[in-house]
Amino acid sequence: MQTFLTKSAVEAAEFIKQGRIVAFPTETVYGLGANVFDAKAIEKTFIAKQRPNDNPLIAHVGNLEQIKLLVSEITPNAQKFIEAFFPAPLTLVLPKAARVPFIATANLETIGVRMPKNELALEFLRACETPLVAPSANLSGKPSPTNWQAVYEDLNGRIDCILQGATTEIGLESTVVDCTSDVPLVLRAGAITLEQLQTIEPQTRIYQIPKNEPLKSPGLRHRHYSPRAKVVLINPKSKIQNPKSKAFIGLDKPVENFGLVKVCRSVEDYAHSLFEFFRQCDREGIKEIFCQMVEEKGIGLALMDRLKRASESGMPSG
Ligand code: TXA
Ligand code: MG
Repeated sequence: MQTFLTKSAVEAAEFIKQGRIVAFPTETVYGLGANVFDAKAIEKTFIAKQRPNDNPLIAHVGNLEQIKLLVSEITPNAQKFIEAFFPAPLTLVLPKAARVPFIATANLETIGVRMPKNELALEFLRACETPLVAPSANLSGKPSPTNWQAVYEDLNGRIDCILQGATTEIGLESTVVDCTSDVPLVLRAGAITLEQLQTIEPQTRIYQIPKNEPLKSPGLRHRHYSPRAKVVLINPKSKIQNPKSKAFIGLDKPVENFGLVKVCRSVEDYAHSLFEFFRQCDREGIKEIFCQMVEEKGIGLALMDRLKRASESGMPSG
């Protein structure tokens, strides 16, 4: 398959209208879009990414009206979050509408919905004239792509088109909140923080992974965001052997002489840079990446979540 590259949202939308799949930028990471009502097109995204089919997808809308096409009910909590934040790096899980095919939700009765805050994404979604499911546009298990070149690296020849936009602003995936019950549950931390959600709905909690029950979000079971290199979390004062062959990313300049170093200006800059740094390390054959830990508040919670997942081993995912 030839992967067509374009900067035109309208040209990219033509592929979607033909039942084909298109990678496009959002403010979080690049997504791999397919028409949410076209089960065959959705199946192509699972195949292209080699994604396990028990991991549900997020539906993306170009305007608030389209949410009604996707869900059977907008709960009061969800309504408040929509009014307060959309468009935003925020996904709300709601009861799904009957017409959404089960392949989109991995057989769940719920669907994640989000309206991205990125001009090109919105222009593209509107030109498609339908909501799109869009997992992150990486091969399953690899770090999510934050620029179109990273999409190309993983999916050239496997997808129909890449809409070439800028590097994504945030660099980590959206906050996922289950809004199906009275207490909203954060299933995945992201740039819309727990603190922000609690200003709108004070009951909002972080979902704690139960020991013996099925998981709320199947994606939580899988390993994510991992470079080939081993990821090790450290404090700034940790002592490292043979740093020349290793890499460092964090907020404080390390004392050791690492082979590859990225010192970030802020926690936001760290979040923005992490996935591309992981990919750079793999390209340069680095075997071990040391990542400075940050405080788990604000976007630091999302950043630490991705760092912890990258440093654990498990099944590859989305
Ligand atoms: O920022 C983002 O969310 C990006 C961009 C492209 O929008 N998309 C993204 O999609 O990260 P993906 O497929 O890589 O991650 C979706 C996450 C998974 O952890 C999945 O388990 C969870 O959202 N999810 C999706 N639908 C769900 C549902 N109905 N119930 C619970 N969790 C759900
Ligand atoms: Mg993903």
